[in-house]
Amino acid sequence: MSKQTFYVTTPIYYGTARPHLGSLYSTLLADVVNRWQKLLGSDTYFLTGTDEHGQKIAQAAQEVGKTPQEFVDSFIAAYKEVWNLYHIDYSQFIRTTDPYHIKGVQELITKLMERGDIYKSSYEGWYCTPCETYVTQTNARHELDRRKGEKAPSCPSCGRGTVAISEESYFFKLSAYADKLLAFYKEHPDFILPSERANEVISFVESGLKDLSISRTTISWGVPFPADSEHVVYVWVDALCNYITAIGYGDPDKKSMFEKWWPAQLHVLGKDIVRFHAVYWPALLMAADLALPKQLLVHGWIQIDKQKMSKSRGNVVDPVELAKLYEPEPVRYYLVRKMPVNSDGDFSTGDLEQTITSDLANDLGNLLNRMVSLAERNRLEQVPAVSEWSEAAITLQKESQATLDAYREHMEKYEFHLALARLWKFINQTNAYFHEQEPWKLAKADPKLFAQVISATCHSLRMIGVLLLPIMPEKMSALLQSIGVALGEQDTVTSLQFTTWNQPFTLKKIPTLFQKLEEQKEQKMDEEKKTETVSEKTYATIDDVVKVELRVGTIMQAEDVPESEKLLKFQVDFGELGTRQILAGLRKFYEPDQFIGKQGVFVFNLKPRKMLGMESQGMMLVAKDSDDKPIMVTVPSTVPNGTRLK
Ligand code: MSP
Repeated sequence: MSKQTFYVTTPIYYGTARPHLGSLYSTLLADVVNRWQKLLGSDTYFLTGTDEHGQKIAQAAQEVGKTPQEFVDSFIAAYKEVWNLYHIDYSQFIRTTDPYHIKGVQELITKLMERGDIYKSSYEGWYCTPCETYVTQTNARHELDRRKGEKAPSCPSCGRGTVAISEESYFFKLSAYADKLLAFYKEHPDFILPSERANEVISFVESGLKDLSISRTTISWGVPFPADSEHVVYVWVDALCNYITAIGYGDPDKKSMFEKWWPAQLHVLGKDIVRFHAVYWPALLMAADLALPKQLLVHGWIQIDKQKMSKSRGNVVDPVELAKLYEPEPVRYYLVRKMPVNSDGDFSTGDLEQTITSDLANDLGNLLNRMVSLAERNRLEQVPAVSEWSEAAITLQKESQATLDAYREHMEKYEFHLALARLWKFINQTNAYFHEQEPWKLAKADPKLFAQVISATCHSLRMIGVLLLPIMPEKMSALLQSIGVALGEQDTVTSLQFTTWNQPFTLKKIPTLFQKLEEQKEQKMDEEKKTETVSEKTYATIDDVVKVELRVGTIMQAEDVPESEKLLKFQVDFGELGTRQILAGLRKFYEPDQFIGKQGVFVFNLKPRKMLGMESQGMMLVAKDSDDKPIMVTVPSTVPNGTRLK
């Protein structure tokens, strides 16, 4: 059976600056879609690139004393570097200065001229250079009358000032396509996602379309207009064509490539450029007798503290800096999870840090780590297939199936944040299952049930890992490797059915997947403290000493704390003073059994404190040897439990 083809694109970015968080966001969404489609088994093509012509670029180049070509060339490496850093798996990077693109644009214009959809006239009005757009009297904020010398209106889209232009121009008969566009929107209610954006477009078209000026004579940095060297093609028409020229439009040798991929399944774009994609682009395609793209996914803006990111505000977030601090894939997760596609999202490093710690380090990373550590400690690296499941495991299996269905539905509608929210619910259900089963108790008491709990957790993690591959490809490959799942055809979403809970797993410990950010900070602070020199020694008074109640106790029970690699949990007998639960960070150096029956010294009146939800009612005294190994402080001969040290 031939695979379904899926062609997805990003907007092409103005080659005037390095990529910022907003550019990363558009590209990331397209990458997630592309990777998801691959997982579903589609044959995919993913296009991104740069928009390099136009007045804005010509001006910016002039300001720094470069030719436009030199100027744009200086940014291309930065785009590719950031996309690689963030594991953006694009198939092609188009530049509108590429010769094949220029040829393709000219081919389209020639076709429209032949069909009588282009005529020559003159344009008088206002132009917004940052947006590269004509601001007509009807959409300008202020009515204007240039001849009376009134002030230029600000651009309705970006609010910046416009400039007056008056020049000969070729026009595309956009007005002739209004009815056809409206009929198209009606027939394809899902063309523009989310639907709120569709309503804006429909009312814009209903209010009447003017013909579109598609050439400029006062600038020369652009695609030469076919058969009229005085003109260059309007930069937006040039840019939109990238979606077809990249896959061979205008090149007879690439006909089959074009036929394979066009129409695109999805154009991803920000809300600021909807009109170009939902009105001008479909009309141009209709005029050229080409199929229309299947869908537009329109996302909101990433704001910083509710404000637009801009150079003048100095709040532009650099994705390279973010990756250095937090690693690229946790940032990918955060952007997709916390910036809903259908609205603007507020970015903050505090929220990013919290999300990484709670969702990634605590919920997901810990689950994997606890399970693999526990299995390894109990020599269960090879987890056999299970033929009969307990009630609790069956409930978890059912949940995993329901999660898979819901996740697929959300992903189909590009509701990434909802897909992830649903998946996290399941991660926490798996955590709860693991915790409730208390496998650390089962390891010796019921090895068969122990293996079952480990297996159910592995099956859950397998699904979680595969579903998250489009969001965090490398981290999830590592997770899957840790449970011995090799990536291949069989790991596509369709294979993750309920009935596939029959796999053996091979476990292998891997370095911590996600570091808690507080831990990173604590480590740094500890290091800083070590280098501090104590300038003045402070003496303890006798009052200070008597305040600390040190007592002898015997460890009656010792066990692992499943959530922790470091802690051991003791029940300590203090004679007439009763038995207390005391936690100590000794697990890395000792087996629990090594402590049973030992008499040690404990701080008895330490304020009880909670660790991982369990109370520790005292503290064991230890001395560290030359290897930093803690050695329990004992008394030379046995004394009654509860004896106070003086
Ligand atoms: N060159 C045009 C697109 C031509 S497509 C045929 C352009 N380029 S851009 O570099 O200004 O913007 C590219 C994309 O980045 C747009 O989708 C825009 O919405 C997105 N973003 C730029 N800043 C953004 C945020 N702060 N937040 C989210 N995305 C935003 O427009």
